[in-house]
Amino acid sequence: GTYIVGVDIGGTAIKFALIKENGYILKKWETPTARKDNGSYIPEQIAHSVEEKLSEFDLNEEQILGMGAGAPGYVDVKNGIVYEAINLGWENFYLKQKLEEHLNIDTYVLNDANLAALGENWLGAGRDSNDLIAVTLGTGVGGGIIVNGEIINGVNGTGGEIGHITSTPNEGPRCNCGRLGCIETYASATGITRQALQALEKQVSTSLANIHKEKGRLSSKDVFKEAAKGDQTSQMIIDYTADLLGKMLADLAVSVNPSKIIIGGGVSKAGEQLLQPIRKSFQSYALGRIADVCQIVEAELDNDAGVAGAAYYVKQRKQ
Ligand code: BGC
Ligand code: NA
Ligand code: ZN
Repeated sequence: GTYIVGVDIGGTAIKFALIKENGYILKKWETPTARKDNGSYIPEQIAHSVEEKLSEFDLNEEQILGMGAGAPGYVDVKNGIVYEAINLGWENFYLKQKLEEHLNIDTYVLNDANLAALGENWLGAGRDSNDLIAVTLGTGVGGGIIVNGEIINGVNGTGGEIGHITSTPNEGPRCNCGRLGCIETYASATGITRQALQALEKQVSTSLANIHKEKGRLSSKDVFKEAAKGDQTSQMIIDYTADLLGKMLADLAVSVNPSKIIIGGGVSKAGEQLLQPIRKSFQSYALGRIADVCQIVEAELDNDAGVAGAAYYVKQRKQ
């Protein structure tokens, strides 16, 4: 078969793609995640959606080389078990087995951000790189590390869990992982919003207060918007967050010596407003030889990184 199915399971939506081995994306679609009963309907939901789409394109399961699926948590790649995906309510969830019960397609399960890194490596900002780090700044902070063209999954499914690198030892907000001060609690969309709300609590003068009053809520986008208009508090939040990210990446870079660091996820849409202070911080913390060869760039595939990486992983395994 020449087609591969890529799946990216998120807390609000499941993204799918039918992709050719050469990288051509035949079809992309998505469906809202079935969250009831701790996400136990998700495998069925995925299977139905894939079956439906295959018949739409007059394809059958035998014509599919394989399926790759990304999940937002720790994954036992060998057995296709999601140890823990807090957002979905999964614990020791036998995703590969359940999917293969419903579909006659060979299935691989990996961490979502590991697959996003692979996707950028195949078709995106990391095309020309064999050694890279990719960070996804979304609801959580995900990471993927590629060394010599291969994704690092680790011995028990936590290779590349960059979001849980400690930024502020023994202090700071409690992370979903149970620990204190993880970079995820600062640099995720939720973390940036939390910092903004904290500033309001302290009653510092900021235009974010007006936005909050008008809308009754705040988002990480507001912080970037207000900073661009000259709000000092918003700019301080961005600078602080970028400083933590730059230091974390500089620390991480000694174990990889990457040619690229790719910043993706919703928060990365801020572009240079975020990248510039990250580069500045990275320069100041990283070994000179590491900084000399490492480019920090924005991701290119947006929402497609995960599904593309899922397909690429299948392609790598089937070669
Ligand atoms: C999880 C990761 C995941 C990331 C992005 C983090 O909270 O620990 O496994 O890759 O969110 O979804
Ligand atoms: Na990861
Ligand atoms: Zn954590």
